[in-house]
Amino acid sequence: MSKLFSPLRLRSVEFPHRVFVSPMCQYSSEDGLPNEWHLVHLGSRAIGGASLVLTEASAVTPEGRITPWDAGIWSERHAKEWKRVTDFIRAHGSVPGMQIAHAGRKASCNKPWLGGKPLPPSDGGWTTLGPSAIPFGDYPVPRAMSVGEIEKTVEDFRRSARFALDAGFDVAEVHAAHGYLIHEFLSPLSNQRTDAYGGSLENRMRFGLAAAIMAGIFYDFQYSQDFGSSAVYDEYQGGDLHRQGYLGQPLGAGRQISSGVWRRDFQNGVVFAKE
Ligand SMILES: Cc1cc2nc3c(=O)[nH]c(=O)nc-3n(C[C@H](O)[C@H](O)[C@H](O)COP(=O)(O)O)c2cc1C
Repeated sequence: MSKLFSPLRLRSVEFPHRVFVSPMCQYSSEDGLPNEWHLVHLGSRAIGGASLVLTEASAVTPEGRITPWDAGIWSERHAKEWKRVTDFIRAHGSVPGMQIAHAGRKASCNKPWLGGKPLPPSDGGWTTLGPSAIPFGDYPVPRAMSVGEIEKTVEDFRRSARFALDAGFDVAEVHAAHGYLIHEFLSPLSNQRTDAYGGSLENRMRFGLAAAIMAGIFYDFQYSQDFGSSAVYDEYQGGDLHRQGYLGQPLGAGRQISSGVWRRDFQNGVVFAKE
């Protein structure tokens, strides 16, 4: 049997094979809630035989959504509504997983098929947050987060990971890629803070590590997907591929919550599977 189709066990989570469905934003929620669309979109991947079915990036707060139509996981109601989806996925032999996310300065946009441009508050958008008041391209300037807001966002990741567990997800993935909030902290291009969250690589990693560790306390196995590789490129352009995964390594090395660090492809994030 090829390795692709051989079973995989990560702590207590058993995968019948290694074909995983990547997270894919659907821009089809109201108030961050899953609906028939999500049931069919994710459920059909389970019926199709995928081993792990990951949800789209699901925001830890309303202002962490890329668009007002993103999925979310910030309340008991979200956990309850997602349960219908996880029950269906599990009933068809797949493992349900959720990607939890905060879009930072790239939040508050329109749906891609409506142009994907930033939405002003007058059109249902909001003021975005970032590590520094530095915009992404021609997007609006985000508000630089206070230390209190950073600490609250770490708590938001923890709380959402808990809701995800309540919703029946066996795997949680912290989105740390694609120029969203954790990546923004990692990159010296978007993070020019002068406090404990900016400057040195160690300081820029602080927020993402804290969010990942706090989200991971409900799960036992930790799986790092080259956490922060693009941020490393920002710093060491054309640089050393081996530097990828630098956020995952301290997570694995400093283990109280996990037993190992695994690599996926060039995505960034940290995945936890529950014990
Ligand atoms: C429609 C669409 C939506 C996506 N949404 C997300 C997302 O929510 N979170 C994420 O980490 N990646 C997202 N991605 C990236 C995919 O998860 C995947 O990593 C990417 O397509 C590369 O994998 P591939 O080479 O197998 O296509 C999205 C991709 C597509 C095509």
